[in-house]
Amino acid sequence: MLVGLKEIIDIAEKGNFAIPAFNVYNTETVMGIMAAAEEAKAPVIIQVYPRLMNQEVGYYLSPACVAAAHKASVPVCFHLDHGAVETEVMKALRWGATGIMYDGSVHPFEENVKNTKHIIEICSSVGVSVEGELGHVGSVNDDVMEEYTDPAEAAEFVKQTGVCCLAVLIGNAHGHYKKKPNLDIERVKAIREATGGIPLVLHGGSGIPDDQVKAAIEAGVRKMNIGTDVCCAFAEGTKETLSDPNRSLAVDLFMKHPIESVKKLALDKIKLTGAYGKAI
Ligand code: 13P
Repeated sequence: MLVGLKEIIDIAEKGNFAIPAFNVYNTETVMGIMAAAEEAKAPVIIQVYPRLMNQEVGYYLSPACVAAAHKASVPVCFHLDHGAVETEVMKALRWGATGIMYDGSVHPFEENVKNTKHIIEICSSVGVSVEGELGHVGSVNDDVMEEYTDPAEAAEFVKQTGVCCLAVLIGNAHGHYKKKPNLDIERVKAIREATGGIPLVLHGGSGIPDDQVKAAIEAGVRKMNIGTDVCCAFAEGTKETLSDPNRSLAVDLFMKHPIESVKKLALDKIKLTGAYGKAI
């Protein structure tokens, strides 16, 4: 069933686990994730980068996400990931998104607050909740990866904006980590406490060691984003098909292994985040 961001985050909050939020890129990645969610009876978020929303692909992919969510027996939220400007948010809402992330983390604090409040005003007029970001979660390729979200600033940000959940910078980054990350779990606890328990979002979920993911969830992470691992699983499945001498060129059959491979990855992440069996 298609549900909103707040609704699905509330399920995680009540159950003390994190919703796995998978970035999807085409219908096949959606299919793999939905197959895993059904098998595991798990609530999931399927989310789309604005890069895709800004291309024609968003036009085709969004209805596939909405249809998948409607067909599902488990709660599914269709979410815009890292919306940076109002037009991206408007497009996602028009195409049926039930969750919006506005990422103003590149801006100074006051501007981030002002922009986030503006996006919340737009989204709340159509009943959609908003994820914000404070502390810019960059790429593993960035020169500096030493910044962190400040708990006192996070408290002020949550109070002033009214975000539904907050993405934080705690030693995480997007992409496959070049060296083992070292998440600042004490900071997660401090941000939770300072904000009065705002549900936290862990971006850059691909490649964080399992024990650190579990500790972050224990400390208050309620949504974990997984993008790069979805791409890698899809690519691995494609290689598997290509190495089969009897493979069919019919595209639907060609896609069997990539879909299976994404499903397997999604099942692993559903288990890791504690979402297994948590559909209610
Ligand atoms: P990864 O690609 O590192 O998994 O990060 C995904 C993400 O955080 C999307 O917002």
